[in-house]
Amino acid sequence: MKLGFIGTGKITAAVVQGLCTSGIDGLSIAVSPRNEATSSFLAQHFSNVRRMHSNQQVLDHADIVCIAVRPDQAAHVLSQLRFREDHIVVSFVSFLTCHELVRAVAPARQSCRAIPLPSVIHHTCPIPVFPAIGPVMDLFSTIGQPVTVDNETQLHALWTLTGLISPFYDLLGSLSDWTVSHGVRPDTASQFTADLFQSLAHAARQSDPIAFDALAHHAATPNGMNEQAAHEILASGAHQAYRQACDRLVQRFPILDE
Ligand SMILES: NC(=O)c1ccc[n+]([C@@H]2O[C@H](COP(=O)([O-])OP(=O)(O)OC[C@H]3O[C@@H](n4cnc5c(N)ncnc54)[C@H](OP(=O)(O)O)[C@@H]3O)[C@@H](O)[C@H]2O)c1
Repeated sequence: MKLGFIGTGKITAAVVQGLCTSGIDGLSIAVSPRNEATSSFLAQHFSNVRRMHSNQQVLDHADIVCIAVRPDQAAHVLSQLRFREDHIVVSFVSFLTCHELVRAVAPARQSCRAIPLPSVIHHTCPIPVFPAIGPVMDLFSTIGQPVTVDNETQLHALWTLTGLISPFYDLLGSLSDWTVSHGVRPDTASQFTADLFQSLAHAARQSDPIAFDALAHHAATPNGMNEQAAHEILASGAHQAYRQACDRLVQRFPILDE
């Protein structure tokens, strides 16, 4: 399988490392020269990764091409490239719609948008893809769990939640620090906090259907700590702050003509 990456930054580094440690047979990856440090690192660490001299060389090498430049760079970068009809193009670019993508990568016949996150490096990442293209779903199933959505509006809603990674870690950091202020050793605090919330997410993932209301209710013993904290935090408006942040983030995506 011949893959190419245009834009070798944070997300390409994670996807390439995830793929190279996933045990796929016959994988050959070409990465674009920018960023120099990241592309050189990948080429030095994985024998099946080559750092090309130009973006066009990446395309010429690849059957599946992933576009991973920043949104404000994407139109210009794509306009400089000559795609083939048989290229499959996967765009990670947040604010580039399918309509814009199809036009920018013509004459390539198959293109889609996808949302891999840095946790693909550990092969444990939900990866929304739209539209679902068989070879792309197969590829991403080696580094995570491909997620099918029905349209771009749904894709943008899921993409919005990926803007909560920093607030999530900030919250965990704050809770971990709180236990440290009560005498817990910092390494114990951070490990316990990460493990606690991972175990809760894992338990939710095991239930079928996943009903967050029911899980919250089940944990809330009458007059217990969970019931008290759930009431206090809801009343404080903290949930509303997250929803309002999402309302503003989703507005950054282009309006769709669906
Ligand atoms: N990070 C994530 O978790 C994540 C998740 C999903 C989707 N995405 C999307 O993926 C895209 C990349 O995100 P990122 O976080 O990886 O950003 P990033 O770390 O800034 O990577 C972008 C890369 O593009 C390179 N670049 C700039 N101009 C170029 C050109 N003309 N030709 C080739 N490469 C060029 C940059 O090189 P220089 O460093 O030399 O400028 C940089 O290494 C964005 O559109 C983002 O929305 C990111």
